[in-house]
Amino acid sequence: NSEKPYLISFPKIGAASLGFISIAEKENLPFVPKRIYWTYATPQEVERGNHSHKELEQLLIAVAGKISIKTESLSGEKEDFVLDSPNMGLYLPKRHWRTITYSENAVQLCIASMEYNEDDYIREYNDFK
Ligand code: TYD
Repeated sequence: NSEKPYLISFPKIGAASLGFISIAEKENLPFVPKRIYWTYATPQEVERGNHSHKELEQLLIAVAGKISIKTESLSGEKEDFVLDSPNMGLYLPKRHWRTITYSENAVQLCIASMEYNEDDYIREYNDFK
């Protein structure tokens, strides 16, 4: 699959004096969401992810803190992304290996295209390649 990860800038409504609201809806989402989950309190030394998906597409948002994501495509293309603005999202296509680290206060929201299914995971890097 030739789809590549890319950053999405969501609308940011408000002002520094008022606070902000950002919106993800049909017009600016790359897929129809089926599941939403969030991760938090990840120690800084912990690397999460370390897997790929057969069919799942995901959108990651750092609603708080800073998240560093390394991706690798099936063809071996590697990219580094940093999420540190709550109005930014990273689209992750299927068949991309990812490793993710978090700042101490980071909260990662994940919007997913499918319900949870362990059979969709590829957890061995050698199986991924
Ligand atoms: P996993 O996707 O491996 O987390 P990460 O990539 O952030 O390290 O999920 C961790 C555990 O949580 C694993 O045992 C499966 C479980 N889990 C669910 O039961 N449902 C879900 O929707 C998700 C995302 C995970």
